[in-house]
Amino acid sequence: MEAASDVGLYGLAVMGRNLALNILDRGFGLSVYNRSRERVDAFMAEHGAAYPRLVATADEREFVASLASPRRILLMVKAGEPVDEAMERLLPLLAEGDILMDGGNSNYRDTERRLLRAAERGVRFVGLGVSGGEEGARKGPSLMPGGDPEAWPVIRPFLEAIAAKVPSGEPCADWMGRGGSGHFVKMVHNAIEYADMELIAETYHLLRVYLKTSHDEMRTVFAEWNKGDLSSYLVGITADALGVMDEDGEPLVEKVLDSAGQKGTGAWAAAAALELGAPVGLLAEAVFARDLSALKDERVGACAVLGGPKAAPTGERHSMIEDLRKALLAAKIVAYAEGFLLLRRASVEYRWDLDLSRVALVWREGCIIRSAFLDHIAEAYRRESGLPSLLLDAHFKALLDQCMPSLRKVTARAIESGAPVPAFAAAVSFYDGYRSTWLPANLLQALRDRFGAHGYERVDRPRGETFHSEWK
Ligand code: 6PG
Repeated sequence: MEAASDVGLYGLAVMGRNLALNILDRGFGLSVYNRSRERVDAFMAEHGAAYPRLVATADEREFVASLASPRRILLMVKAGEPVDEAMERLLPLLAEGDILMDGGNSNYRDTERRLLRAAERGVRFVGLGVSGGEEGARKGPSLMPGGDPEAWPVIRPFLEAIAAKVPSGEPCADWMGRGGSGHFVKMVHNAIEYADMELIAETYHLLRVYLKTSHDEMRTVFAEWNKGDLSSYLVGITADALGVMDEDGEPLVEKVLDSAGQKGTGAWAAAAALELGAPVGLLAEAVFARDLSALKDERVGACAVLGGPKAAPTGERHSMIEDLRKALLAAKIVAYAEGFLLLRRASVEYRWDLDLSRVALVWREGCIIRSAFLDHIAEAYRRESGLPSLLLDAHFKALLDQCMPSLRKVTARAIESGAPVPAFAAAVSFYDGYRSTWLPANLLQALRDRFGAHGYERVDRPRGETFHSEWK
């Protein structure tokens, strides 16, 4: 009889296969199972010889029986119903204290529900945020587990072993909190990913269309930016992508249809923000920008009907490129400030007690938004865990002081020249709204009171006292 496996992996699609190899490379004994047998056979045929501790299993019963107790099972199936189906197959076979981890991009509300379902059988459920795409899964992803806290000590050595490491050796895996917090944190990661990408895309738009920058030059610009404050995985892969040519020698990126896809996590984050009353306009705009891009045919039709300015912005090219760099940096700070604002709101509302510094630390390596920037965010929350906004942290305030004038200039010029810059514009609006001692919400309150007798507070009376007036 073979020794029981340390871990079980359920689901051998591309993320599952890559994680399996990562787990095996870290020396764990691994049992794998997939509902269609061919995937298991193909995986064994390719890797069975190289990994003596890899165990193929033919059904759920064999899979569960092959695992050491308490069992640690990682579900890598498509988010949604497949997770529930897999759970229902496994739960009757599991024992009290066994651990089920869902490594998909599940909705945090589903995770909350599944925690209760698993608990009915004494099984510990973990919603595991996994970021880094295929490459991350293979070489070391960023891991955001949350759920049943009793599970953490048992899964910790395993998750830390397979996670990405920062140069000092610290693993990018940490316990986020109870309930659906792990998947919530992953969802906010994705919302920031959307925003980061939209800001980069708007920058590319202005470089390409308004400054008539060649692809080679743009590649160099992004590669240069990748050495400074903007240094990040996303800026790095942008430089790479701009340098790729099609078979005809033309830049491949220009052959790509300008209609963006999405799988839902960005929209979930925007919906969660609306529910929680978290003002994250830039994160939401990044989702809407994809939605607008997807209206390709309508846009083409509207172009023939609706007019707008044609003028390209004027100015010295070199300084405009530097303005774009600063604009991108300032807007990126706002995007992260909004992401952390959303986390903070959720943490209070759901009593997750999230440690925002630790969230930033797990995003430093392995994930899609990894960057040098995250060290500063971690420091900001380490210095002041209750920091109301990242914009107020000394490091980011100094950068904003340097860069906001460029963000204003770039945004204003883009708007004057008819270039859509929803994310840049949302960044300026958030910044200005957040620093305003007065906003015209007094008029909103007056109107609400006029037509709905909703009541209002007065500036000359204590907070909490409400008044109603006749506004006719
Ligand atoms: C990651 C990514 C990944 C995610 C897509 C988002 O962290 O590895 O966030 O999990 O699914 O990148 O996909 P869409 O752009 O299709 O929504």
